[in-house]
Amino acid sequence: MKTWNFGVLGLGKIAKRFTDAFQYVPRARVHAVASRDGNKAREFAEAHHISTYYASYEELVSDPAIDIIYIATPHPFHHEQTLLCLHHKKAVLCEKPFAMNTRQVQEMISLGRRSNVFLMEGMWSRFFPSTHKALELVRSGAIGELQYLHADFGFVAPVNLDGRVYNPALGGGAQLDVGVYPMFLALLFLGKPDEIKAICQKTNTGADATTSALLRYSNGAIAHIMSSIVTDTPKEAHLMGTTGVITIHTPWHKSQQVTWRSNAGEKKEFSFPHSGNGFEFEIEEIVRCLDAGKTESELMPHSLSLMMAEVADEILQQGDIRY
Ligand SMILES: NC(=O)c1ccc[n+]([C@@H]2O[C@H](COP(=O)([O-])OP(=O)(O)OC[C@H]3O[C@@H](n4cnc5c(N)ncnc54)[C@H](OP(=O)(O)O)[C@@H]3O)[C@@H](O)[C@H]2O)c1
Repeated sequence: MKTWNFGVLGLGKIAKRFTDAFQYVPRARVHAVASRDGNKAREFAEAHHISTYYASYEELVSDPAIDIIYIATPHPFHHEQTLLCLHHKKAVLCEKPFAMNTRQVQEMISLGRRSNVFLMEGMWSRFFPSTHKALELVRSGAIGELQYLHADFGFVAPVNLDGRVYNPALGGGAQLDVGVYPMFLALLFLGKPDEIKAICQKTNTGADATTSALLRYSNGAIAHIMSSIVTDTPKEAHLMGTTGVITIHTPWHKSQQVTWRSNAGEKKEFSFPHSGNGFEFEIEEIVRCLDAGKTESELMPHSLSLMMAEVADEILQQGDIRY
């Protein structure tokens, strides 16, 4: 069977971790990488034993040997670079957040469909065995009706006013950087909320330092999600139902352990040890989709990315955060 050729666009921190994961996926490989800086591209390629490297993103998307491009640049560039790839009929895996706002996400999805190529947001947490197990437990009724979901993701980012995390021009702030994870979990389990109440504390740069939101659902459920770039939070997720509770243990967005407890005092623990850094699960899903000729993943569909963009827009607007 075919081995799928990836191209990596933008060679920062996450590009390295993503590339490292290919050793655990037999039928996918990084064929070429591209940086705005030719020396950086050469050094990255040599360090990862990759034969082809480019000093521009345009050369990468023009390489006929590449099947799919992984976009690993700061968020404000995701929209234009995804469109660039799609115009060249390249499939795309674009890092989270998919783009800066709903309008951009709509344009990306629309062009993806017209181009008839695979397009997916790189929400890697979706593909971990721990996420699959929590979904399976909830769907099987193991906690009765889901009533309350709590998930957090906060870390202390080194203060660098020009860096990606603090600089609004580079999409800085907690919600778009790590707030997408708890928001994703709430929308995965509960869907689109009927009401959102959000507050943000700002950094001096105007990005959100800490963001907290309550999501209300007409079926009675509530989700509480929070994110921060100025405090290190437990990074646990709890799914509380009428008959029990599921905990996705820290760090829940890439967890190796899930615990189920019933109100009656029963308890089961599920462990998912793995040797790679976790990106292998996302790459494996892409291989499955490309093998099947799909243009979107059923696990991380366009509709979920669009919903995430809409909810993020509302949270940021209520928090008076403007890019
Ligand atoms: N899935 C995850 O676990 C995860 C984790 C961290 C980050 N991310 C996402 O991945 C994306 C990149 O994050 P990162 O931490 O890898 O960022 P980073 O280290 O700052 O690297 C981003 C890369 O983007 C390229 N770039 C293009 N235009 C740029 C510009 N004007 N300013 C700065 N860089 C520019 C640069 O590559 P060249 O110089 O090579 O062109 C740079 O090295 C973000 O959207 C983030 O949300 C995902």
